Amino acid sequence: MSEFEIETFCVTGAGQMGSQIAMLGALAGIETRLHDISAEQIERAMAQNRKHVGRRVEKGKMSSEELEAAFSRLKTTDDLAEAASGADFVVEAVVEKLDVKREVFAQLDRHAPAHAILASNSSYLMSSEIADATSRRGKVCNMHFFYPPLVMRLVEVVRGETTEEATALAAMGLARRMGREPVLLHKEMPGFLVNRILRAISNEAYFLLESGVASFEDIDKACRQGLNHPLGPFQLSDFSGLDIGYNARMEIYRRTGREEDRPAPSLARRVERGDLGRKTGRGFYDYSTDPPTPTGE
Ligand SMILES: NC(=O)c1ccc[n+]([C@@H]2O[C@H](COP(=O)([O-])OP(=O)(O)OC[C@H]3O[C@@H](n4cnc5c(N)ncnc54)[C@H](O)[C@@H]3O)[C@@H](O)[C@H]2O)c1
Repeated sequence: MSEFEIETFCVTGAGQMGSQIAMLGALAGIETRLHDISAEQIERAMAQNRKHVGRRVEKGKMSSEELEAAFSRLKTTDDLAEAASGADFVVEAVVEKLDVKREVFAQLDRHAPAHAILASNSSYLMSSEIADATSRRGKVCNMHFFYPPLVMRLVEVVRGETTEEATALAAMGLARRMGREPVLLHKEMPGFLVNRILRAISNEAYFLLESGVASFEDIDKACRQGLNHPLGPFQLSDFSGLDIGYNARMEIYRRTGREEDRPAPSLARRVERGDLGRKTGRGFYDYSTDPPTPTGE
């Protein structure tokens, strides 16, 4: 089968993820357009990209000519029609809300060429929940990057119920062209691979803590020393933000109503106090000290 040609790449949603996904496209030598509904956000995103990629020049990993060439390939706009027209491949990275994503896909379907592939970077929403908002269900898939996309190499490519094989292969090819390491999920399942495995580890860690089997700092130490994980599950929760984990668990609890899905008391207490992890300086650990020290209740 011939390679799916991608000459023009479009990313909609210029937040934490979309800004860097677009940068990856431009760095890979592809004409890229970055869209957001907020012009201020686009400005912030580009300033962040300059800062991040600028470090590669400072470290001698790329020349300033290469950097400028990449930025000249990256155009920004707050007009979705302009961003999507002529695009061969679109990645959607807007807010994690199903109705917003469906509306964005319907608009992309109107403005992008008929052959264009439309991929969602959603962490939890599956492409089959979105694909029928378009007239090209076979050309819709999930393409899940990890934060921060300029650093994290993994990309999960997920075939939804109606995703054609060629669509998934094109997404795999694009990820490789961007210097990423894609994995292919032959069918969709909420949380895909990584977030499911992470949740299983994290649920067990909370269960052990709440059962009084060990302290959270010892559970973290066990995962670091025994499994060679760079961070234990509670350190990782602090790093990503305790509110993120709490909200994700609340969402599952609302859906299942099962007590074991309810956020653990040790997590809920911290979130209620506003101790959300690294970003607030305190979560399971206190980050005002070096190294961070375990907090009490
Ligand atoms: N943050 C992560 O660690 C992470 C990791 C993998 C995947 N994701 C997924 O990526 C997506 C984006 O996450 P993020 O962390 O970058 O969010 P973010 O809040 O940083 O960015 C979302 C952006 O979407 C824009 N937006 C909102 N409505 C829009 C619309 N209708 N059209 C165009 N832009 C619109 C907002 O202005 C904002 O700039 C979500 O689906 C999320 O689940 C996030």
